[in-house]
Amino acid sequence: MRTQVAIIGAGPAGLLLSRLLALQGVDSVVLENRSRGYVEARIRAGILEQHTVDTLTDAGLGDRLHREGMEHRGIYLQHPGTRHKLDFPELCGRTVWVYGQTEVTKDLVKAQLDGGPPLLFEVSDVTLEDVDSDTPRVRFTDADGVAQVLDCDVIAGTDGFHGVSRPVVQAAGGRTWERTYPYAWLGILADAAPATDELIYAWHPEGFALYSMRSPSVSRLYLQVDPAERIEDWSDDRIWENLSRRFALDGWEISTGPVTEKSILPMRSFVSTPMRRGRLFLAGDAAHIVPPTGAKGLNLAVADVTLLAQALVRLLTEKQADLADTYSDRALARVWRCTHFSWSMTSMLHTSGDDFDAQLQLAQLQRICSSETAARELAENYTGLPVG
Ligand code: APR
Ligand code: PHB
Repeated sequence: MRTQVAIIGAGPAGLLLSRLLALQGVDSVVLENRSRGYVEARIRAGILEQHTVDTLTDAGLGDRLHREGMEHRGIYLQHPGTRHKLDFPELCGRTVWVYGQTEVTKDLVKAQLDGGPPLLFEVSDVTLEDVDSDTPRVRFTDADGVAQVLDCDVIAGTDGFHGVSRPVVQAAGGRTWERTYPYAWLGILADAAPATDELIYAWHPEGFALYSMRSPSVSRLYLQVDPAERIEDWSDDRIWENLSRRFALDGWEISTGPVTEKSILPMRSFVSTPMRRGRLFLAGDAAHIVPPTGAKGLNLAVADVTLLAQALVRLLTEKQADLADTYSDRALARVWRCTHFSWSMTSMLHTSGDDFDAQLQLAQLQRICSSETAARELAENYTGLPVG
């Protein structure tokens, strides 16, 4: 088999890259080791930055997003007794959209299978070869158990944190940075109409809580818990009790309903540099992980592939390597900005049991709730800084 770009992994990064390349006449083949059902069922976050919505819309993938997604004009920051709204259009002229990453992935898979470039599910034994040459290749076993070889000009490593691509880059040198947090998120999906018009990020002495949603009838809520907690120890009643306490506000009631999914998510920040080795380019979770507090995971993957698509189109159609040669540095500049924002939101909103920290966190929250300058800084980062 032969193609121009071999893409490893059919998550949002790999699928969107294949789409952006196809729109500019560059061929690709996407190799995914899981089944379609598995890829489309993964529960992930759901906030889309302005540029992500624009990129999906410009790529012809915005119909269902605009029909079923919800445009949000701000968030609430809460600490005991106070719930303060940040008005994003007023602060920075941008908004965000609530539309589950699961839905984005379904739209991408549907578009890919509907006349898009080849997408092979349930492949295995993916190995990358000759990435330092201009003729790299990918060996893999297809879903029928047949050994295959895919010759290409470029390999895109969009195979997530546990993929095979990053280790190949790291084998030629580079380094990684990691910060693990002493807390985790217990997340639930519930058939309950959200009792809030905007997301609520709540600081509480018992721990952080986030009130998000998926639709006018489905709520998505998170609780800060100890990473050692086991989901089986958390009955739905216990979860709702803790959520009610952390969001408590006079005259306001949380709305409960049947919990349809619950899980505990670890939290870490991770950055791997460089994001390129020869003809192998990394994008998305393959190169970096952010804690979910800043809602940056998916948006950073979209920003990476926006830059990578531009660089590969120029390399493969105009034989110009300038954007490809600076891709890693340009992508990492935004990765560190978003890593800092996600770390600062996480550090400001999660309790660590240290009283002095608690006072510092409340002082910073009160600053953001009373200063337009501080609120604008958060709003600009949350809604998404320009790409490139
Ligand atoms: N061969 C083929 N496919 C692989 C391999 C492999 N060896 N290893 C992993 N994959 C696939 C995974 O099954 C997954 O479908 O690569 C895909 C990577 O997708 P994601 O993990 O979703 O990563 P990415 O596309 O970068 O999206 C980042 O996902 O985790 C969220 O918060 C994160 O929102 C961010 C987004
Ligand atoms: C979500 O809706 O799942 C969500 C929203 C905002 C976050 C994290 C997750 O910061």
